[in-house]
Amino acid sequence: MIREPLPHDSAELHVAGEARYVDDLPEPPGTLFAALGTSAHAHARILSLDLDPVRAAPGVVTAITARDIPGKNNIGPVFPDEPLFAADLAEFRGQPLFAVAATSVELARRAAQLARVEYQPLDPVVTIEQSLQTGKVVHPTLTVTRGELSALKNASHRLGLKLRSGAQEHFYLEGQVALAIPGERGEMLIYSSTQHPTEVQHLAAAALGVPDAAVTVELRRLGGGFGGKETQAAGFAMAAALLARATGRPVKLRADRDDDIIGTGKRHDFLYQLEVGFDGDGRIEAVDLMMASRCGLSNDLSNAVNDRAVFHCDNAYFLPALKVVSHRCKTNTVSATAFRGFGGPQGMFAIEGAIAAIARRLGVDPLEIRKKNLYGEAPRNVTHYGMTLKDNVLPQLLEELESKSDYRARRKAIAAFNAKNQYLKKGLALTPVKFGIAYTNIPMNQGGALVHIYTDGSVHLNHGGTEMGQGLMIKVAQMVAAELGVDVERVHISATTTGKVPNTSPTAASSGADINGEAALAACRVLKERLAPLRAKHPEHGLAQLARAAYNARISLSAAGYFRTPEIQFSREKFLGEPFYYFAYGAAVAEVAIDTLTGESRLLRADLLHDVGRSLNPAIDRGQVEGGFIQGMGWLTMEEVVWDAKGALLTHAPSTYKIPVASDAPPVFNTWLWESGENVRDIAHRSKAVGEPPLMLALSVFHAISDAIGATADTRDPVPLEAPATPENILKALCVLKS
Ligand code: MTE
Ligand code: MOS
Repeated sequence: MIREPLPHDSAELHVAGEARYVDDLPEPPGTLFAALGTSAHAHARILSLDLDPVRAAPGVVTAITARDIPGKNNIGPVFPDEPLFAADLAEFRGQPLFAVAATSVELARRAAQLARVEYQPLDPVVTIEQSLQTGKVVHPTLTVTRGELSALKNASHRLGLKLRSGAQEHFYLEGQVALAIPGERGEMLIYSSTQHPTEVQHLAAAALGVPDAAVTVELRRLGGGFGGKETQAAGFAMAAALLARATGRPVKLRADRDDDIIGTGKRHDFLYQLEVGFDGDGRIEAVDLMMASRCGLSNDLSNAVNDRAVFHCDNAYFLPALKVVSHRCKTNTVSATAFRGFGGPQGMFAIEGAIAAIARRLGVDPLEIRKKNLYGEAPRNVTHYGMTLKDNVLPQLLEELESKSDYRARRKAIAAFNAKNQYLKKGLALTPVKFGIAYTNIPMNQGGALVHIYTDGSVHLNHGGTEMGQGLMIKVAQMVAAELGVDVERVHISATTTGKVPNTSPTAASSGADINGEAALAACRVLKERLAPLRAKHPEHGLAQLARAAYNARISLSAAGYFRTPEIQFSREKFLGEPFYYFAYGAAVAEVAIDTLTGESRLLRADLLHDVGRSLNPAIDRGQVEGGFIQGMGWLTMEEVVWDAKGALLTHAPSTYKIPVASDAPPVFNTWLWESGENVRDIAHRSKAVGEPPLMLALSVFHAISDAIGATADTRDPVPLEAPATPENILKALCVLKS
């Protein structure tokens, strides 16, 4: 069962359209439908808000503002710094000011447009540069240093770079949605498409002014989250719950796609300034790095996201001397949030740019520079946050990929192609990934599960994790089935609910199978122990007979399991410790062609070699590796989030925002789960977290494009390509490089 490539437990339901998402649940009689009324300005004082026309509109039952919230007007998950409904000050265009409930979705959305709002517009701060000038941040700047930065001045070679990586819209298939059903004595049942039911529960309870225990949040699955529903599902659920409280009727709030894109946070885009010193062989001696990110109006998860960028600014390389300054810029844009990789991809982006620039300066293949700078033997095995690598498999993995992908021969073939072709140029790149596994906020590294065995031997499985398509449920079910010695079909996967497993962490940081799987195993072990005497007496019994016998002997067939990740520790003040339980590793080779006249690019071939440890389910893991890679390619090549000077988001629909589709997958697409992979930690059957790390394999695509651009000019200057490598940015880089 373990390590079998079983299909996703809902695969057939997905295909048949039978998998139920929140919007598919039968609506209780009397259900009302909600819409949000939002700010027309990115930055403005709200002088007055008149909802009379809204309330008078057809079908409207009620409309509520900040003043109608009985409890706390706050959606800030870590720092209470963002209101659900803005009252006096609007801080981004699209910020909710009120919510309306009506008898149909259409009527609610129409009514929401009718509010009379008087604004006093203020100057918006939209860009990172503007924010750096004002000095406004959502959290104090973090500076981390290691070694002597004087090594930079003394280095025989030096170069400076200014880089940029773009934001990214999650574009989950299922938009933000919640259905709130009021009960007796202040109870509220909320079906929410959230990665973090517990947080929705707590924030909704605080807004309603009731104890956490009165609110239950439940969901069977999300139609994709990608980090976009880690914190930002809460506002929708809270608005639905408040309207349900105000009307005494069930209320459903499902955001229209444009409103969803405008009203929810994206990946943080980053601006980088760096200086790197290196020797004649391309070995890095010192790095001085400034990173600044667009956080939007509030903290949300920006602190943790930017910290993770700092943790990953080394990617896979030993940096003997380093100074990182990380600014968390406050802007009048929607609050940026978690997105697959959680700042890790942004952190790695700069150092990979530096490596490519060093290679160009020295006139050697970037792969040589990458290999020379990989973490290796002591003392070159300690990160800038003081963690000693005990599981670094990259030197071996890179060698394997280089040979599996036929890198050398293709490098030559591409050089020959480029010599012959004037307008089409090809490029090649091999990039590594090292990604730390654990929530960097230490208390979050815990999980719970609840397992019942019924007297027919069927098993009810519940845990704190949420299913968003990543295959968490089937993985945990496989672990439970193996532990209890039953077929996986006997394990019934059930909806995630705060009523069964409380105080959970979000399903995030790729830790789902680790913490929920181990918690479920802990529950199974308790059950097995209770059944052991009966098993000894009746070795021939299957689980059904054992369960029946246990019931008759009055032995409990239900157990809660709990797991916390051992050993990890970290001091944020010193920025030192062992914040990660282990690392996930991988590498990718990308080959691209660009058209130097139009700036178009095409991924021709990708070879991915990824370490998932000893895979729990190779079919699921392969899907995560391929899907993550393609999503990362979208971030780095075609997905472009654009705000205008007034802070209006211009890219809020598929007409203006382009994500990869099936035909963007490369015609030659090799994905290998690394066969020698084995987690040095004894967790989840020595598998490794796989949800996020493969996204960063797509750095290879960006660098292959950059390599192709580089082939057009015989200079030693860095290729000035900004991410995303859209046709415009590719053309710009071609022009700048030639001039
Ligand atoms: N895969 C699918 N199909 N849909 C998703 O929303 N989210 C990703 C990743 N893979 C996601 C996905 C993100 S951001 C994370 S953190 C992990 O899945 C979370 O699940 P896990 O911890 O079970 O890997
Ligand atoms: Mo994933 S960005 O940790 O939800």
